[in-house]
Amino acid sequence: MDTLDLGLAALTSDEAPNASSRTVAGVLAMTAAVVGLAAVKWLSDLTAQRVAGPSGSNPGGVYLGKDGVKRYLKFYEDPAQAAGEQLANRIYEWVGVDAPKSRTYPEATDRGYVFASEILPCEHHLRDVLDGPEGATYARRFLDGFVADVLIGNWDAVGLVHDNAVVLPDGRVVRVDNGGAFLMRAMGGRKPPGLLNDITEYEVFASSRNPSYQAVMRKAGWVDRSGRETPLMKREVASQMDRLRSLTGDDPERLAGLASGLLKETSATAADRARMIEMLKSRYRLLDQRVGAR
Ligand SMILES: Nc1ncnc2c1ncn2[C@@H]1O[C@H](COP(=O)(O)OP(=O)(O)OP(=O)(O)O)[C@@H](O)[C@H]1O
Ligand SMILES: [Mg+2]
Repeated sequence: MDTLDLGLAALTSDEAPNASSRTVAGVLAMTAAVVGLAAVKWLSDLTAQRVAGPSGSNPGGVYLGKDGVKRYLKFYEDPAQAAGEQLANRIYEWVGVDAPKSRTYPEATDRGYVFASEILPCEHHLRDVLDGPEGATYARRFLDGFVADVLIGNWDAVGLVHDNAVVLPDGRVVRVDNGGAFLMRAMGGRKPPGLLNDITEYEVFASSRNPSYQAVMRKAGWVDRSGRETPLMKREVASQMDRLRSLTGDDPERLAGLASGLLKETSATAADRARMIEMLKSRYRLLDQRVGAR
């Protein structure tokens, strides 16, 4: 299995590819996962018990499914937002950036299009640790997803009050709210079409136009006081771009093919699916040029 096949497995199933999936224990775990999936085939299985109301601006909340798994559900008005968040999570996973296991349903409910992510054992929000003694370390861990954020245009990766990234007990920093990736603004409504196929985020994330992201970049020492890129940022971005290149075999069409397969399972319209694919291809090429030679 080459890197592309592994990527395909990650993008088309709920299980990330890893070495354990080739062991007996791995096979058993995968079987359990399939049984688990069957148990929550229907939306009603997923929403068996409401545990808590929404903690963000979108309608939703925490639900306990019939399979015993707790999920954060969001009900989106626009199917492109559920599809975009699902694709975002799988692309992060594929490039080695932490994001929750998630799923969408092609049918609309009377409350909207469902996006469901499995609840992670969140110890803190990024905001709680950013000003602490380990702030720079957490900021750098978060920025391991910078190139991926630009690739998918995830404007709200940090969150208005640094509440869209959480810290797990093992210290990993996970992006849990990726509803502002691809076509949609985090709070709903479409992004201006002129911004979709460009990588303006490369500068905007470091600027006062995205103060939350800027604060993380400053804390990490990626930009100086005047917003200029530091040698650390240059090095890190180059290494993230190399990772993306090697995973795709240096070919954005391969990434587009994987994404296209995943989007077919969602409720996004054909026109919106094509827009998201175009974003990926165009942004990949621009990043490739911008980050420069290997
Ligand atoms: N998979 C998850 N695991 C743990 N906590 C989660 C998960 N998904 C969401 N949360 C928690 O719920 C909060 C709200 O979720 P989310 O940010 O996705 O909602 P939203 O309505 O899109 O928020 P916003 O107001 O930022 O648009 C998050 O800040 C986080 O604390
Ligand atoms: Mg949020």
